[in-house]
Amino acid sequence: MVSNLLATRRRRFMAVVAASVMAGGLVLTAQGPDPQTVVNNAYAQFKTLKEGKNADYIPALAKVDPNLYGVALITVDGKVYTAGDIKTEVSIQSISKVFTMAQVIQEQGLDAIEKRIGVDATGARFNSIIAVEGVKTVVGTGAPEMNPLVNPGAISATSMVTGANSDAVWKKIIGTYNDYAGRNLTVLQDVYKSESDSNQRNQAIGALMLAYGYIKSNWPQAVDLYTRQCSVGVNAKDLAMMAATLAAGGKNPVTGKVLLDPAKVPGVLAVMATAGLYDDSGKWLYHTGLPAKSGVGGGIIAVAPGKFGIAVISPPLDDAGNSVRAQRTITAISNALGANPYAVRPK
Ligand code: DON
Repeated sequence: MVSNLLATRRRRFMAVVAASVMAGGLVLTAQGPDPQTVVNNAYAQFKTLKEGKNADYIPALAKVDPNLYGVALITVDGKVYTAGDIKTEVSIQSISKVFTMAQVIQEQGLDAIEKRIGVDATGARFNSIIAVEGVKTVVGTGAPEMNPLVNPGAISATSMVTGANSDAVWKKIIGTYNDYAGRNLTVLQDVYKSESDSNQRNQAIGALMLAYGYIKSNWPQAVDLYTRQCSVGVNAKDLAMMAATLAAGGKNPVTGKVLLDPAKVPGVLAVMATAGLYDDSGKWLYHTGLPAKSGVGGGIIAVAPGKFGIAVISPPLDDAGNSVRAQRTITAISNALGANPYAVRPK
């Protein structure tokens, strides 16, 4: 008797979950689940999760509080739903790569990135030098097996931002990030110094990218600006706003400023989908269907096109360099809101 009742309840529960996962167009409407409840539930579910470890190859990152946990979801019409710590800043790290790529695409077109850097996953770790060696023979053929979200491609993308000198280029980069976040961001100087003192590997990558023609001149400037862009401080709400701007077709949903032509947004999202979580990008896409990007500071952003941007900050990472708690939280929230674009209810 009791087990029959439980079975019935379980069937009903599963039907509701399935409906919300498959709902697609119903997301965030009166009929769909309440986003704040979904955010609160996921936050409560993963609050005590302790898996993973802070990055420590950049010494300043090892000192960040591993318990920091913040969730923010912003819809394309500017509604904000949050849980936990949405004030404390961490360094944006590799999430910055998306917005420098977007800046270059906005100024120079989708072709510029595809031809110079490539838009294919490397299948290697984000700072792999073997990946650079693997593509050097095809530079200039228009099909390098690289992308702007791994370090070699990202340092090269930073070198493509135009400007008379380092200061002028930096003003453009930080100006773009400010516009996506909808407020003025600053560099976390302790992280910038710590990474500048310990980034010999990125310097080697920068020198190689010059040698193989991806960077045209002055690789030390490209590496320095890349290091600075990775050290920009952001909180969970900033990151969600940046993601929501991509979800809204390139227009910041709160300030209304257009930062990326709508026709260029799918290209940016495609690279995020294939390479945003590095060698775990396939696994991530399998479970969420969402373009996303992680950073070793502990942040992850994900974009539900036409619906919302979401971000979670939680510093402990898995072996691939992706925040454990952020992955779990975003997966739970986006699936509960039916945000997977591949999930379609048959008619
Ligand atoms: O260049 C680095 O190693 C760091 N500034 C960024 C790496 C990173 O965030 C990789 N992300 N998961």
